[in-house]
Amino acid sequence: MNIDELRISYILAMLHRPNDSIIGVEIGTAWGDNAVRMLRARDNLHLTLVDINIQSPLKNAMIEFNHRTKQIQMQSAEAAKLFPDNHFDYIYIDADHTYPYVKGDLEAWYPKAKPGSIFAGHDLDDGDVKKAVYEFFKEKDKRVYGIETIWPTGEIEAPILQKRFGIGNTAFIYKTDWWMIK
Ligand SMILES: C[S@@+](CC[C@H](N)C(=O)[O-])C[C@H]1O[C@@H](n2cnc3c(N)ncnc32)[C@H](O)[C@@H]1O
Repeated sequence: MNIDELRISYILAMLHRPNDSIIGVEIGTAWGDNAVRMLRARDNLHLTLVDINIQSPLKNAMIEFNHRTKQIQMQSAEAAKLFPDNHFDYIYIDADHTYPYVKGDLEAWYPKAKPGSIFAGHDLDDGDVKKAVYEFFKEKDKRVYGIETIWPTGEIEAPILQKRFGIGNTAFIYKTDWWMIK
């Protein structure tokens, strides 16, 4: 397992359940780079992938993981209604980063996390993510953590970026993961 490629909130989720399976969901999956990394890291991760637009790079990347993944093409907040409360061991939000959507995602998915589980997301420094996240957990009097990390572009994303912009896997990006313990 290459820990370098994993986001910190997922490493914490794995540490939290060292021997047990993880029922996870990624909200906003795009081409599946993060999903592939998570699935490779743990054989007993069962991952739901929610995206308003499921594209062929994701479908292709998931072929080898079809037995433990479910793809849902739907608006995030609508997809949340498909699951009972207190269901997930790991929830990762990385969809629309504008304020109303982040707020809507937090409200829709927070009840779906098991008590004590890792509830997390990406891009704390993008758009209005920070404002929405801080407000939501301040109201709940819950502590939120964040850390900035550098990632190489994912293996699915790299050739697509290379073709479109000529940058490919030379593009290293700073991104901030946030997480809290429900
Ligand atoms: C930043 S990308 C996700 C990247 C992915 N998590 C990764 O790290 O590899 C955001 C994705 O969220 C999806 N998205 C945007 N708004 C959404 C919504 N309201 N509901 C579901 N998916 C949405 C977009 O289609 C896009 O694929």
